[in-house]
Amino acid sequence: MPVHLIINCESINVSRDHEEHTFNKEKLPQPFFEWQSTARMEMINTLQKSGSAAVKSQPAHLPVLASWNDGFFSINLASRGVGLLPKKDFVERFILLFEQAVEETQNDPWEVTLDRRLQALREFYCDEAFFDPWMLGGLEIFDGQTLQNLQSNPFCALLFTGDAPRYPSYQFNAIAELIDHENVYYRFLLAARQMFSRDAFHIYQPRYSLGYLFHIVGIKDKTPYPRK
Ligand SMILES: Cc1cc2nc3c(=O)[nH]c(=O)nc-3n(C[C@H](O)[C@H](O)[C@H](O)COP(=O)(O)O)c2cc1C
Repeated sequence: MPVHLIINCESINVSRDHEEHTFNKEKLPQPFFEWQSTARMEMINTLQKSGSAAVKSQPAHLPVLASWNDGFFSINLASRGVGLLPKKDFVERFILLFEQAVEETQNDPWEVTLDRRLQALREFYCDEAFFDPWMLGGLEIFDGQTLQNLQSNPFCALLFTGDAPRYPSYQFNAIAELIDHENVYYRFLLAARQMFSRDAFHIYQPRYSLGYLFHIVGIKDKTPYPRK
């Protein structure tokens, strides 16, 4: 079932299975940005103070991704590394910064280069003005059911849930665009991952077949609150 996407500034058109639908894109909510930025800065501080073995979980970076196929249990769920992306005007700048950090630190012991790598990451996460409000991104590692589903059905959902005491929780309905190694956002996602690929909180991977841009078309704030 071939899928064709036409991506505009504020909408996205999906042609699939002889049907065509247009969706308005939605902006990621401000409290989500704040949570993402704070969680990353806290992680950077933990890494700086205690090293990579001290990072035991990263809920802000690890939503559950739901995708669909045909069949009785047609929903497929998978934990995925998904993160913020730079706005178009800034993407080249951060690719260069991250790729340079990867290149300069490749041959030195990992612990020795931690500061250099954290400095690059901090430059991106320190300022919300850099974040693209319309989409999130991730890398494909295992080429399993999720990939198979998103190749034929780009409609998907991400569920993020954070730590106590606030438990920020968001469902984002999204349209997944598959991006190859030439795409600037693939380069950004790859370099961001490679900067920390040998740290204890990552399972080292030799390759990533492709990347995803998740264009946000629906938002549900699922953060719990005390009912009156
Ligand atoms: C903490 C965590 C992070 C993961 N991150 C990714 C990721 O970024 N990319 C990926 O392809 N798989 C990732 N996985 C693996 C997927 O959850 C899943 O095993 C994989 O997609 C195969 O399942 P599928 O056949 O349903 O796609 C991660 C798993 C865990 C537990």
